[in-house]
Amino acid sequence: MNILLIGSGGREHALAWKLVQSPLLTNLYCAPGNPGTALLGENIPVATNDFEGIKAAVVSRAVDMVVVGPEDPLVNGIVDFFAQDVLLRSVTVIGPNSSAARLEGSKDFSKQFMLRHGIPTAAYKAVTGESIDEGIAFMAGLKPPYVLKADGLAAGKGVVILDDLNEAAAELKSMLSGKFGAAGNTVVIEEFLTGIECSVFVITDGKNYKLLPEAKDYKRIGVGDTGLNTGGMGAVSPVSFADADFMRKVEERIIRPTINGLVADGIDYKGFIFFGLIKVDNEPMVIEYNARMGDPETEVVMLRLKSDLVELLQGVADGNLNEKEVVFDKRAAVTVVQVSGGYPEAYEKGKVITGMDAVTESIVFHSGTARQGDQIVSNGGRVLAISSYGTTTAEALQRSYAAAERIQFEKRYYRRDIGFDL
Ligand code: AMP
Ligand code: GLY
Repeated sequence: MNILLIGSGGREHALAWKLVQSPLLTNLYCAPGNPGTALLGENIPVATNDFEGIKAAVVSRAVDMVVVGPEDPLVNGIVDFFAQDVLLRSVTVIGPNSSAARLEGSKDFSKQFMLRHGIPTAAYKAVTGESIDEGIAFMAGLKPPYVLKADGLAAGKGVVILDDLNEAAAELKSMLSGKFGAAGNTVVIEEFLTGIECSVFVITDGKNYKLLPEAKDYKRIGVGDTGLNTGGMGAVSPVSFADADFMRKVEERIIRPTINGLVADGIDYKGFIFFGLIKVDNEPMVIEYNARMGDPETEVVMLRLKSDLVELLQGVADGNLNEKEVVFDKRAAVTVVQVSGGYPEAYEKGKVITGMDAVTESIVFHSGTARQGDQIVSNGGRVLAISSYGTTTAEALQRSYAAAERIQFEKRYYRRDIGFDL
């Protein structure tokens, strides 16, 4: 089978690493990919939202299956584009159509979905320019801090949490006045939940689902989970507090109602669902859905997935996932993300990366890198995801940190406390 993978981050490098282990794979292509995926398949210089360019690549390379990494093309309708094109109709696309991707693409839609299907989540109110006063009144009835979310996609930046009601009211007005562009035309105000977060992933063919290894990511830039939010500074799997009892509740109260709810609403969902969960007083609640895998969670989930990923994806295509088996690796997996100094604010690119070749006990996934002649240089905020196995999480972390010491580039930064809270 020929597979085209869409995306260019650490998530895609990790997916590529897993896909090429399958005997079912003939050729792997990545659009646009990165210097890491270039070692595993052919990179095609086509942007993730250039559907015509992707079509040309699929036709010319006789691609049988497209795996979509990031959310943008899904929300923008890549699955619908394929379904409507006579040349592409027979090609399997792994990912939800634009209607189903609203689980991630519209916070208001996802909250209504959860309410409709009795899935535990924070109390909320959706507000537009016409209902600002109702929004402020709703906030006044909540305990601080106040959680404000732009309804649409905002590149992970659309969530603002504030302690002061007046500041929150001002922020609400600013969001509704275009701070996040059209994504903030509607703002979801939420009750603040206190607890510990983890990420749970399933793959579904629309009727059946299979659970993948869970993970915990570390979103803040600073030690002790402080400072600005980032795309993710590291991840671990397994997650000790996501024990059998917790996961049973997650399946009963969240995963099954979600899959059944999609069927009941007539939404055909094929692909990955990422449940952003929080454990509140021992009970799981949903913070958010994503219509894709997480980054950097994928970098540990793929390490812990023993089963053939291509076979599972074929099960999604054929609608017989129930006949497939998912086996987890018993080892722990971790990833530590090296970022450019200054990230998530302004940072410089083009710094030469050294020491990668000396790393033998970790798998170094490329997130934001570029090739310049013989050298690899930094080319983004998140640069490398240094991933390792261990008998224990502590052992895996030791390996990633030893590698992180060796891999150098000017002003590089990484958190030294990944997994600290478990
Ligand atoms: P999201 O983009 O929805 O994942 O939100 C980003 C982060 O904001 C989450 O990972 C949480 O840490 C935090 N967050 C979002 N919603 C809530 C909430 N209702 N209560 C507490 N924290 C939240
Ligand atoms: N690591 C969080 C995300 O991928 O959204």
